[in-house]
Amino acid sequence: MTVPADLLGKMTLAEKIGQLNMVTADHAVTGPMVAGDMSAAMRAGRIGSMLNLWGVEATRAAQRTAVEETRLGIPLFFGLDVIHGFRTIFPIPLAEAGAFDPALWETTAREAAAESAAAGLDLTFTPMLDIARDPRWGRIAEGPGEDPLVGAAFAKAKVRGLQGDRLTGIAATAKHYVAYGASVAGRDYATVDISARTLAELYLPPFQAAVEADVAAIMPAFTDFDGVPLTAHRQLLTGTLRGQWGFSGVVISDYGAIGELLCHGVAGDLAEAAALALKAGVDIDMMAFAYDRGLPEALRRGLVTESDIDAAVARVLNLKDRLGLFDDPYRRCSPDAVPEPASIVAARMAVARETAGRSLVLLQNRGGALPLPAAPGRIALIGPLADAGTEMLGPWSAAGERTAAVSVLSGLRAALPGALIEHVEGATLEGVDTTGIAAAVAATDRADQVILCLGEAAGMSGEAASRARIDLPGRQAQLADAVLARGKPVIVLLFSGRPIAMPKVFDKAAAVVACWFPGSEAGHAVADLLIGRINPSARLAVTWPRHVGQVPIAYSVRSGGRPEKPTEKYTSKYLDLPNSPQFDFGHGLSYGAFSVAEPTVTVADSILVDTAVTNEGERRGATTVFLFMRDPVASIARPVLELKRFERLELDAGERRSLTFRLERTDFAFAGADLEPVIEPGEIEIYVGFSADRAALRGARFLIA
Ligand code: GLC
Repeated sequence: MTVPADLLGKMTLAEKIGQLNMVTADHAVTGPMVAGDMSAAMRAGRIGSMLNLWGVEATRAAQRTAVEETRLGIPLFFGLDVIHGFRTIFPIPLAEAGAFDPALWETTAREAAAESAAAGLDLTFTPMLDIARDPRWGRIAEGPGEDPLVGAAFAKAKVRGLQGDRLTGIAATAKHYVAYGASVAGRDYATVDISARTLAELYLPPFQAAVEADVAAIMPAFTDFDGVPLTAHRQLLTGTLRGQWGFSGVVISDYGAIGELLCHGVAGDLAEAAALALKAGVDIDMMAFAYDRGLPEALRRGLVTESDIDAAVARVLNLKDRLGLFDDPYRRCSPDAVPEPASIVAARMAVARETAGRSLVLLQNRGGALPLPAAPGRIALIGPLADAGTEMLGPWSAAGERTAAVSVLSGLRAALPGALIEHVEGATLEGVDTTGIAAAVAATDRADQVILCLGEAAGMSGEAASRARIDLPGRQAQLADAVLARGKPVIVLLFSGRPIAMPKVFDKAAAVVACWFPGSEAGHAVADLLIGRINPSARLAVTWPRHVGQVPIAYSVRSGGRPEKPTEKYTSKYLDLPNSPQFDFGHGLSYGAFSVAEPTVTVADSILVDTAVTNEGERRGATTVFLFMRDPVASIARPVLELKRFERLELDAGERRSLTFRLERTDFAFAGADLEPVIEPGEIEIYVGFSADRAALRGARFLIA
């Protein structure tokens, strides 16, 4: 596959700029403006790619215009946000990250890529790799959680799954480069003020991992870093990304972001904005028309050169070549395309059900409230999310059929065909009406089992969906209070795109399951967990706060000079809450229990950490073992815990499995005073366990030379 000889040399300036222009169709609306009829621009060769258009016929029609009705016939490519599935929707990434299983992450990506390619798509704006420690930020739902090592593993798995070998799948786009998750006050699109150290240690690693996995494209964040918008950040886009890491792919701006450089206050007009972005390293302008309308003027003013434009065009043509579009522009929208066979679709749906089941986090389970007894008797299924299939896909559901998603009610009925299930909404998702609570209380009093389905609407997280409060919306808390006050064991199913602060529910509920948004097979997966068909194994990929006042909150933080001592005044704490979270990073229960042996450390060429895990339960189950380190004395204060490895294990009842983690000296490098990696001799503490709860970790220490 090669780009046609001297194609660039044959292109006019307008045609070159056309290749840098990405416009949206209207199959989805993912930004503040839409493009309208672009057919004339298409025929003039002023459009190089499209987003939000899918379907073999629709993409073929657009492709035919580009290939057969333009002077040079350069093919388009088609992109879409396939964040957690195209038509078959998997759990939101924050949920799937909790499976702590790179093989699973890769599988769902491969499935999504196959389904997308069969619908005419060449590229997806995925994986979203923004580390997030602030659940007020709605986009925490879209990413891999709070930990950079998990984020890096997620990045590699997703890029491999989406692209396949040598881009046999669809092109992946790692986004939003970089530190978008640190938006001030958790407000989307706000400014970002963090240290260069935090940038290096927390936010960059997942993107470096994506580049190492040969990701085809990168999307800069809307936000700034230290006053320089990422869309105009030459040091990060060209210096770090291309210069240091060797990224050779394409940089695609976020939606309208080049034009937003005027709002940021770094460009006086579209020509200046276009020049800033191009010189910084942005190849494609998504929906700002800044390149289309501003680059010719920028050229006239001498703000850019034609060779700057040529360099960007060459990278775009190379991406199209890698996608096979010069060999066959209709490769993913062929007139001979046949729909995927039903067996493929069914198998993919089974993957969605399994993935959903492995993403549900059993947060608490007092008195063995779960799994339900074999003969559960009368079940009261209460709450606004009990029969809410349309909410189960969560944010970014691409071509997912919201009406086809399986609700909890449907899933439970299918799993317990003979059970008497009384469904009562009790309260709406957001409304202030409490007149339904009485019926919920009455149903509770009549029931043998009480299941309360609470949480957020799909649109309360994702883009442009930050919440200043992270509690239960509407009058759901009142509904919960009333049901919990009846004195029966209550099972709470929580659906959300972020951790929800609901301390009274945690205090009184017998069991709570963080379901997140499980996707197309939500109801079946939740029912599988409720009746014990699956043994819960998911863990939290984020720390769960008691209250929004604790945010930002994470486990991997520095101690400070006066760490919390609850009984000592002059220490770092609150007057009205403990510092500790509701649940730690990595927290999650199973039906049964696991134990981990004291680790031993052997220092040779590598550092080997030996331990063992035992399934103390009465049924086969899976858990994730985390290996943390701490460097207690270093030239730069180090976090109290840093994750270095994680391993998911499935064990039979009673099975004990030895486990060896292999670490290299380079695992103990950190950014020194000059932010260059340094390894310092001294004592290192190693911890193994099932979450970042330091009191429950088993430790050892060794000397690194
Ligand atoms: C949106 C999002 C970005 C997405 C793009 C295209 O504004 O920020 O994540 O890929 O536009 O839909």
